[in-house]
Amino acid sequence: MQYFKINGKSRLGGEIDVHGAKNSVLPILAGAVLIRGTSVIHNCPDLSDVRATINILRHLGANVNKEGSTLIADTTVINQNSIPEEMMQELRSSIIFLGALSSRTGSACLFFPGGCDIGLRPIDLHIKALERLGYELSFDGRNICCENKTACGHRIVFPLESVGATENAILASVFLKGKTTIINAAREPEIEDLASFLNSAGADIKGASTSVIEINGVSSLESTEYTVIPDRIEASTFMSAAAITGSDILINNVNHIHLSPVVPQFYEMGCAIYAQKNSLRIKAPERLKRVKLIQTRAYPGFPTDSQAVLMAALTSAKGSSVIEENIFENRFKHVPELIKFGADISIQSKIALVHGVDYLHGAAAQCTDLRSGAALVIEALRAEGESTITKIEHIDRGYEKIENSLSLLGADIKRIQDEKGR
Ligand code: UD1
Repeated sequence: MQYFKINGKSRLGGEIDVHGAKNSVLPILAGAVLIRGTSVIHNCPDLSDVRATINILRHLGANVNKEGSTLIADTTVINQNSIPEEMMQELRSSIIFLGALSSRTGSACLFFPGGCDIGLRPIDLHIKALERLGYELSFDGRNICCENKTACGHRIVFPLESVGATENAILASVFLKGKTTIINAAREPEIEDLASFLNSAGADIKGASTSVIEINGVSSLESTEYTVIPDRIEASTFMSAAAITGSDILINNVNHIHLSPVVPQFYEMGCAIYAQKNSLRIKAPERLKRVKLIQTRAYPGFPTDSQAVLMAALTSAKGSSVIEENIFENRFKHVPELIKFGADISIQSKIALVHGVDYLHGAAAQCTDLRSGAALVIEALRAEGESTITKIEHIDRGYEKIENSLSLLGADIKRIQDEKGR
């Protein structure tokens, strides 16, 4: 078991590079299944979720190699159409293979992905979208199976915006005869990235990044080479690290448009932000100001994935901030852990009231999920004295060696192997 030891209170400085976006790479790797050839994918982060997805690809028959941040997936041969429990349980987004595999092989059987730490995470919208296209779905209590008997392009109207369901619908319709139109599609940049990747291989997808996506069926996809977009959530995590420590840092490899939903909140905290070509300099004040109200929404709203790290920053702001979580029902699990550092936060249903405090002290805290884990690291950077953060495998799902990135900025953070060396 590994944990982080962090000595807080030091100011950060220097520059740092943002890695490729986790939430782009995962669906893009599923999308590679559609290609009878090779996908060369650049800017691919080294994350445990990516490794779990590579394992699924290999299980399906693909030949996958990674050289640095370039991943080469040869999916000429796909000779499996089922994914077993242990692989499906590794990461929830594995449900994306339902559309991808059904597209490639005509059928797919996946162990049911179930809920997770941040909420129930139903998949009804994924299922309804595939059924709407004419796929036949069945459940045997453990597995969800999907078969293409008479599927063809159709009109799908989502009652709410779902990133994963939109991606599954795209993947399931790439080869279908005729036109598929997705209405009320989610508009997250990672969906546009998936569509751009598939288009680079010969797909005909228009409108990704808007709420109406049109897919005209094509007969095959060819080998391609593609570069994944920067991770906007990792960027907002580094911005939060600078904010809480009153630092001045340069963050490289950012997309300013993708960050526009979080930048106003940093301005409101009193940070100065200077946009350069693909970089962003953030200069935080000695003491942050409160943010009146943060409401998480689907893109281009404030991202739920950035909620925890900004909350951490606001625990030491002057004044009280209100944070409303509208996407997931169980996404305040970091709150009891942040309180261990001396933070003053109360929760009423989906609202968190964060009363900024003058002083945070080191604490022993435990990650409960990926973004909660990142929030604890941010908190510990400000807290006086030593903190230990356990269950950091949650953080490794979505941040490539966060301790290396923060150390580069001058943070005192070490990954420790526990005494038993487990
Ligand atoms: C993706 C991201 C995750 C992010 C989330 C919201 C990936 C791998 N993960 O997750 O990091 O936090 O978007 O930006 O890209 N819903 C239903 N039925 C469904 C599907 C979703 O009711 O069938 C609901 C969810 O419970 C949630 C909302 O829709 O309340 C949005 O979830 P969704 O956009 O689907 O999230 P994910 O794709 O799972």
